[in-house]
Amino acid sequence: MENVIKLHDKKFRIMIPAKEIDDAVTAVAQRINADYKDKETPLFVGVLNGSFMFMSDLIKKIEFNAELSFVKLASYEGTTSTGEVKSLIGLNGSIEGRHVIIVEDIVDTGESIEHMIADLEQRNPASITVCTLFFKPNSYRKSRPIQYRAMEIGNEFIVGYGLDYDQLGRGLKDIYVVTE
Ligand code: IMP
Ligand code: MG
Repeated sequence: MENVIKLHDKKFRIMIPAKEIDDAVTAVAQRINADYKDKETPLFVGVLNGSFMFMSDLIKKIEFNAELSFVKLASYEGTTSTGEVKSLIGLNGSIEGRHVIIVEDIVDTGESIEHMIADLEQRNPASITVCTLFFKPNSYRKSRPIQYRAMEIGNEFIVGYGLDYDQLGRGLKDIYVVTE
């Protein structure tokens, strides 16, 4: 893949090559392996669309028996005064008593992950943790702990490895950053 690419109206250049991403995924998988090896069949819940590639590589490095599922946060205009309502779709079956690991592509302000956690908590799992490929510490506005962060970045906008710019760029194997 060439060094500078164009997606819609913006140009992007490579920021994190695939090898570095793989090393970060390995490191976070090792931490999860150590923390969950004695727990009863943990459940990885990936948030679509962004987490598909991260989940695929992460799960190959997991050394205990685990289940895997994907969900989507669907936004729609609510009838309440608060406006936007988000609901979680795609989770069939009970998660009661299960150890849940949410797999996200990126936690930015924390708005999306907050909705995810709140929804899942109502279903009475034994525990919930979050594993995100990217975390933007300067942007995060919530108080919930984000236990597993494969990589931390500044406030720059990135694409690739599942992340998109208006639906483009998800298939790139490296991470690209917007450039002038
Ligand atoms: P939050 O709700 O503000 O934490 O934002 C989370 C969502 O915003 C992610 O799941 C992404 O879909 C999107 N997002 C935030 N930062 C980026 C970025 O740098 N590149 C691509 N998508 C992003
Ligand atoms: Mg996302």
